[in-house]
Amino acid sequence: MSSTALSSELAAPQNGPESILIIDFGSQVTQLIARRVREAGVYSEIAPFTSAEEAFHRMQPKGIILSGGPASVTDADSPRAPNVVFESGLPVLGICYGQQVMMEQLGGSVIGGDSGEFGRAFIDIQQRCTLFDGLWQESESHQVWMSHGDKVDTLAPDFKVVATSAGAPFAVIANEERRYYGTQFHPEVVHTPDGGKLVANFVRHVCGCAGDWTMAEFRKTKIAEIRAQVGDGKVICGLSGGVDSAVAAVLIHEAIGDQLTCVFVDHGLMRQGEADEVVRLFKGHYHIPLVHVSAETLFLNGLKGETDPEKKRKFIGKTFIDVFEDEAKKIGGAEFLAQGTLYPDVIESVSFTGGPSVTIKSHHNVGGLPERMNMHLVEPLRELFKDEVRDLGRELGLPDVFVGRHPFPGPGLAIRIPGEVTKERCDILRKADAIYLEEIRNAGLYDAIWQAFAVLLPVKTVGVMGDHRTYDSVCGLRAVTSTDGMTADVYPFDAAFLTRTATRIVNEVKGINRVVYDYTSKPPGTIEWE
Ligand code: XMP
Repeated sequence: MSSTALSSELAAPQNGPESILIIDFGSQVTQLIARRVREAGVYSEIAPFTSAEEAFHRMQPKGIILSGGPASVTDADSPRAPNVVFESGLPVLGICYGQQVMMEQLGGSVIGGDSGEFGRAFIDIQQRCTLFDGLWQESESHQVWMSHGDKVDTLAPDFKVVATSAGAPFAVIANEERRYYGTQFHPEVVHTPDGGKLVANFVRHVCGCAGDWTMAEFRKTKIAEIRAQVGDGKVICGLSGGVDSAVAAVLIHEAIGDQLTCVFVDHGLMRQGEADEVVRLFKGHYHIPLVHVSAETLFLNGLKGETDPEKKRKFIGKTFIDVFEDEAKKIGGAEFLAQGTLYPDVIESVSFTGGPSVTIKSHHNVGGLPERMNMHLVEPLRELFKDEVRDLGRELGLPDVFVGRHPFPGPGLAIRIPGEVTKERCDILRKADAIYLEEIRNAGLYDAIWQAFAVLLPVKTVGVMGDHRTYDSVCGLRAVTSTDGMTADVYPFDAAFLTRTATRIVNEVKGINRVVYDYTSKPPGTIEWE
């Protein structure tokens, strides 16, 4: 069974919180809509358009949002919203493709654009509209983010235009009586600076939600879901040493107690001191049953000679699952495997909804799963972004120093050693990385940085130390700021910091004789190097 099937199979809380149903047409940013709704204090669920009707009946939402998507409404077999959306009498907000599909289904029309709008655009407010309450006034102009080729050509009956843009005369449309709204732009992305407030206006002012949903509610909802999914089954949870798997484990432990066993597979690709820390925290502090598997040789032997980033990722993902399956057998037939998969891991690997989406990297938690895996997945953080997981961690009482840790990827140092991974190269990288992080902490910068790490390049350069010629590897330093890992900016260290750190690394780490700083934002770079 696929994880997607599993997540849509989860029972929703009956008599649960006020909710908004988000119908997904395959946009890369659908989860950002859910996030904006959560920020407005309202629970939401995303359902692919193919199973939206079932989700509608199960959730009994107070409003519906139709997402964007890559298809063209003008194509005969392009997706449509189920009829129940427009028969329900509930408020509807259509975004981009969602706006177009709403027009098409309600009697308007859409044309394929030969010149779309992509990126920053400005809209001119023509009339007042409930979506603009306390936000935008008539005849003002506001920045939004557009990404569309097609556009609405004729409005469905009883709709009016409330904002226009140069490329989209129907930038915002409304039928206030039926409480239907459409935006050609994307209010959910940060590049629409007022977008969050616009979504909040929809869910609170139009749909009438109270906006009192919190992370404490999320915790309760997830605990109920985990119990419903797992029953009296056994779960094993892979701890990676990072925040995500730790938060997932503590949450699941709260839900099902000792039905959970944590498995920490030490693949030999951890940072310095990390393995000990994990064991201490979980066994010592939380008293969660923990199996510590030392599998360095298995992983390093398998990585021998491999230089292709995707093959490295796939091998590590697959081997992880192999080890888990063995451990599951040993602890007596766990049928569930828990992982701290986050939304950015999901969206860059496969579409959240199983629809078409471009693969950037096969993330360890997702794309590397072998087909033959015969455990069900429990992924309670699948909808969340990193900062939300930290909030949940604090809500669960995890220590601040742990919750504030920089993210660390499942494949570990292997994806920070472009080219072949060997024990010797891991040891060199571990030392350089530890010095770098120590300098960052000493400078009081750790919490200002989203993620910082060293990379060991497969490039040797000539240097001179004392009277000797050296011919050693180059170490790259990376540090970025981000709010969710989806986009990132380079952290602007001052020259003194970089000089001090580079000097220490070259002096203290045998095997490195040159240090460079990575000045690439995401996009176009990714945060990790592979
Ligand atoms: P990228 O390199 O895709 O990284 O810009 C975004 C964030 O995701 C982390 N990352 C991973 N996390 N398994 C994980 O658990 C993975 O396979 C993986 N690859 C990247 C990365 O460290 C950054 O925080």
